[in-house]
Amino acid sequence: MWEVGQPLDIREVDLDEPKAGEVLVKIGSAGICRSDRHFMHGDAPIAIPVVLGHEGAGTVVQTGPGVTLASEGDQVILSFVPACGRCRSCLEGHSNLCDLHGATGANMLDGTTRLHADGKDVHHMGKVACFAEYAVIPETGVVPLTDSIPMDKAAMIGCSVTTGVGAAIYSAEVKPGSTVAVIGCGGVGLSVIMGAALANASQIIAVDIREAQLEFAMRFGATHTVNAADQDPVRQVKDLTGGRGADYTFEVFGSGDTTKAAYDMAAKRGIVTVVGIAPWGQEASINAVDLVRNEKTLRGSYYGSARSRTDMPVMVDLYQSGKLNLDDLVVRHYTLDQINEAYADLDRGEIGRGAIMF
Ligand code: APR
Ligand code: ZN
Repeated sequence: MWEVGQPLDIREVDLDEPKAGEVLVKIGSAGICRSDRHFMHGDAPIAIPVVLGHEGAGTVVQTGPGVTLASEGDQVILSFVPACGRCRSCLEGHSNLCDLHGATGANMLDGTTRLHADGKDVHHMGKVACFAEYAVIPETGVVPLTDSIPMDKAAMIGCSVTTGVGAAIYSAEVKPGSTVAVIGCGGVGLSVIMGAALANASQIIAVDIREAQLEFAMRFGATHTVNAADQDPVRQVKDLTGGRGADYTFEVFGSGDTTKAAYDMAAKRGIVTVVGIAPWGQEASINAVDLVRNEKTLRGSYYGSARSRTDMPVMVDLYQSGKLNLDDLVVRHYTLDQINEAYADLDRGEIGRGAIMF
């Protein structure tokens, strides 16, 4: 991406050798996620030029000096928060919020880039930059697979699955028998639904503005659907829950309005979890008295509150034991040359997830 608002440009760029603590990965698959789209539209800031792509999997083909966490030939899932392991967030067990990663942004952990073009530094989205055949990645940003799984499924675990399933089971800690409402049923929202089903929620209400998405959500464990384009979703969710609202609600689109709706449709003592990334600067207003009187909890969830290196292998096990339906999640495959078409499909609201195959 050279400029905001322009199609992605597919061209050769230079990639340095991996430095100390870094590995070179040959990318196998990369997912088409809305987060990249936010940067393309300028809804979120990022250093440019940049190689986008943060939902990926591949094979380690070279290791830099001192690497101990991965070996050549390992199949790996990529994490877009490669943790430093030393900052306060990492030490407190919240490596998804690594301070050093946050401070270095779309550069490597040492603040420099391995990508260059026309004598300029080119940045690495999430230190992953997997919309490319090869990527240099910090070793803590690769999670080796012990058993081989299809690369497109592995890529989904790199973002949407861990983000969504993690939001349900690690952030909100959905309890058996509870009621759940999920606003936005794209790749991430469907994963929240899978996580809620895994946690044995008794009622899982899928909320979207598109009928096809709602029908598709039933395959992942949704028990009821609400079309937010027809009628007020807050009213409909309340009607489906005997007037109470849902015990757990999730915002998985990314806007102030849907955040407010997720808050309003939560029950007394409800847990409201915001997963979607709203355009920078957008705010959500909530009724301050209702917050107190109903003892609601409003929280965010970044990367499913997961610790990539220990929790992504859990997602792999759940997939292999038939408890996560990743086979139905990936609906469309593209070549890298088709990436702009892939994003046009996302904009059109095609169901499920798209993945680039290399
Ligand atoms: N109410 C309910 N659903 C909506 C609304 C709305 N007002 N507006 C859009 N949607 C639905 C879309 O129809 C789509 O099914 O939200 C879904 C979003 O899905 P995707 O575009 O596939 O986005 P996804 O990749 O799942 O990411 C969702 O999570 O990680 C973040 O940055 C990401 O903010 C994004 C969010
Ligand atoms: Zn993503």
